[in-house]
Order: sequence, then C-alpha cells, then structure tokens
Amino acid sequence: MTADDAILLALGSINLDLQVRAERWPGPGETLQVHDLLRAGGGKAANRAFLARRLGVRACLVGHVGDDDFAEEALRGPRAVGVELSHVTRVAGQATALAMIVVRADGDKTILLAANANDAWSEGDVGAAAQVVAAAPAGSVLTVDLEVPEAVVLAAVRAARARGLQVVLDPSPAGRMPDELYPLIDVITPNPEEARALVGVAVASERDAIRAGEQLCARGVRVACVKLPDGGAALVSADRREVVAPLDVEVVDKTGAGDAFAGALGVALLERQELVQAVKFAVAASSLAVTGYGSQAAYPDRGRLERARAGRERRA
Ligand code: RIB
Repeated sequence: MTADDAILLALGSINLDLQVRAERWPGPGETLQVHDLLRAGGGKAANRAFLARRLGVRACLVGHVGDDDFAEEALRGPRAVGVELSHVTRVAGQATALAMIVVRADGDKTILLAANANDAWSEGDVGAAAQVVAAAPAGSVLTVDLEVPEAVVLAAVRAARARGLQVVLDPSPAGRMPDELYPLIDVITPNPEEARALVGVAVASERDAIRAGEQLCARGVRVACVKLPDGGAALVSADRREVVAPLDVEVVDKTGAGDAFAGALGVALLERQELVQAVKFAVAASSLAVTGYGSQAAYPDRGRLERARAGRERRA
C-alpha cells in the first residue's frame, strides 16, 4: 500500500541502447560478427521508472536527453507505460546518450556508454532537479544512479533527506561514487564488480557479500544489498544479515537486471514492505529480468512477478 500520491522518482541516465549478441568478447583489434541487433530505450533511471510502472506505482523520470531523433526513441517505452516525463529536459546542442551493449551466450554483458546529454547539467538544472525532489509527495522514494554528474546526485539526495524521503542508490558506474554520498543513502545496491570497486572485497560467496555490505554500512549507508553472482542478494544493516536466493530461471541476458533490482526495491519501500520482503521482491524482479533479451522488454508486470514468487513458495 502506498501513501496516497507517493511517487517513485528515478533520477539518472536516459539512453538509447544498441544491443547485439556475440559468442564471446572481441579481442583487441578484432572485428567480430554479431547478431540479434536490438535498438530500444534504456538507461538506468529510465529502466527503473519503466519497471515501477509495470509494477503499478506512479513513477517520474528526472534526467536529460538531447535534441536529436534518439531522444524520442529513448523515451518511447517509459511514455508507453505512463511514466511522468515532465522533468525530462531536452538539452540544446547535445546528443542523447548512447549505450552500445554486447551480450554473450551465457547472458553476461559489457556496455560502452557515450554519456552525451546525461553529463550536460548547468547549475540551474541541478537546482531544478533538487526542487523536483523537494516538492515530491510525502512517502515518495528517490532512486538514483551515477550515470549523471556527482553534483546532480548530491543535490537531489540532500533534497530527499531534507524532505524525509528514502533514497536507493545503484552505485553504477562505481568509479563515480563520492565519499560524501555514503551517509546520505538508505539502501545501496552494488553488484559484485561494483562492491569490489567500492570496498575492495571480491564477492564470490554469501560471506564475501556480507563482508562487503558491512564495509558499506561502516561508511555510513543504512542498508547494503550486495548482489551475488548467482542473482541473489545479501542484505546487511546494523542489526541484520540475510541472504535471499534468486528465482530458478534460465538466464538469457543480464542487461538491466540491476535496474530492475533497484527499481523494484524502490517500489517495495514506497509500499512500506518490510525490509527482507522488499529485498525478496527486488530479487524476484531482477531474476525475471534476465529471462528475456533487452532491458525494458524483459521486465515483468506485477502479475508475473507475484505468480513467480508464489510458485517458489509452493515448491519450498
Ligand atoms: O543497466 C542497463 C543499462 O545500463 C542499459 O539500459 C544502458 O543504457 C546502461 O545505462
């Protein structure tokens, strides 16, 4: 149950994704034949907002696109599911961000990102984004990623704290994480590579994930949800240590699974789900997100998510 008009705010990247499938990563200087070209809207914030709408809550996207033809393509999916787009700015003279994604046969992916409009924020834009957060209805949740400049993220997160809103951070790309951000975050959701980049722990097991989570909490975050290589997650807070197993699914493509996790977690917090339940909800969403090719195209709606969770409970 959400508080009246509470909304999931998704601040961060809005990209056009050009995705292909390859048998393996190319070597240096190599030309590799690939297949299954997919051209679709993506970006971490756009994906989270899209998923939130699929799960039935209000969602508002805050970010930048360029003044080119890619912009409308990037926004087509979020627009179709009813994401509020009035705080997406078209930046004059900039191209929309472009993500070039290669998915390997085992579902693993690499992404090359041309940030373009995602990195073009004036001081006025930063202030306006903070204003959007400050004006959000009580009980709203802010979700952020690091594919936009640090100044935007910090201003928005500070506005959320001042407003009493919970903040979920997907620390991607981890190299852009500012130290002062940690104590402002309610829930951080690194994948194994990001956890290693942030706190130097190689996450290969549940124990590693808990250790990484403890170190993130020591830096000031309230809750760390460290994702495991198998698709599960470890939840660490001052007084809790829990590991949530993934759903048993066939992995097709891992692209966008982290955004599904962060978006679903934001939805669960908006709905005031208890923390372990919220992480189970997020793990289920990201488990289902890997079962199809592409990000938004593979995201489950509420019915599918609940049926998959119920199926697991019946088997247990
Ligand atoms: O997490 C997946 C997303 O990362 C893709 O949609 C791509 O645009 C990049 O931002």
